[in-house]
Amino acid sequence: MKSAPSFIDLTSDRSRGGGTARSERLRHKREQSSVEGACMAELNSNAEWKQWGKDDPLWAVASWDGKQRGGASPWTDEEFYALGESDWRDFMSHWQHYGVSTESCLEIGCGAGRLTKQLALHFDHVYAVDVSPEMIDRAQKAIERGSVEFSVIDGLHLPQGDGSVKAVFSAHVLQHLDNTDVGFMYFRKFYRVLGAGGTIMVHIPLYQFPIDTGLAGALMSSPYAVRRFLSNISAGAKRRLGKKTMRFTRYPIDTLRAYLSNCGFKRVEFRIFPVKSNGGYHTFVFATK
Ligand SMILES: C[S@@+](CC[C@H](N)C(=O)[O-])C[C@H]1O[C@@H](n2cnc3c(N)ncnc32)[C@H](O)[C@@H]1O
Repeated sequence: MKSAPSFIDLTSDRSRGGGTARSERLRHKREQSSVEGACMAELNSNAEWKQWGKDDPLWAVASWDGKQRGGASPWTDEEFYALGESDWRDFMSHWQHYGVSTESCLEIGCGAGRLTKQLALHFDHVYAVDVSPEMIDRAQKAIERGSVEFSVIDGLHLPQGDGSVKAVFSAHVLQHLDNTDVGFMYFRKFYRVLGAGGTIMVHIPLYQFPIDTGLAGALMSSPYAVRRFLSNISAGAKRRLGKKTMRFTRYPIDTLRAYLSNCGFKRVEFRIFPVKSNGGYHTFVFATK
């Protein structure tokens, strides 16, 4: 989680340059099966998150200036979990307004349990998953309530059964995946594990081009394509050198809306609101099965 972004994150970004919203949708359909295949192997992004979990789990979750291990004023447990309480109040008021059952919730990417601690107070049963054993360990130590079941996962496949939960929540996770294809596929899994009438609240940085079609659309998207290309090279080089990276992947709003309805989701809503803790604007998607 980056600190205090003071802008609404609907910037002109695109995961791959060129193409219209329709061609992006077709591309996703075409590539879904190959991504599914590729994801049988481990995701590249898992390696750095396992390392972040070992090196500085609290700062990796809330990357505020000076709060890193060895920084001017490193996160204390009290501050870190108080941040979770404050942010959860903001998140929850929106989810309650949209509508959510308190029966059970699956949290994707629970990290050190900043928000899991709050979910445990709100939902009768919580399932929390993450790719980093150290993050899970930290979360387990912070949460006394026995109603949370933790699992270390491979980063895409979910151990929960079909229709087994009434809510899916995630914050500051999909932005750290290597590309939008992996993130999109996660939504299909969310649909599978949700029971009828269940809802999702998922934090996801979004973008939309003013013009999405034809030559103008292609021209507008090309700077972002170059940026993603360079970012992929830089992340690959860091990984080869054994250095940690933190990806920031944005998702095209029109493609996401179409993708979610293709999955079967209904009442798709996007909300952008600031949290009280640092004034940072957060973009969430809500949807119902
Ligand atoms: C920035 S932290 C956010 C933690 C927590 N959601 C919060 O807001 O306090 C991102 C978390 O996502 C986890 N993560 C990264 N890739 C993941 C994936 N593919 N599936 C599930 N969790 C993932 C990381 O290990 C890390 O704990």
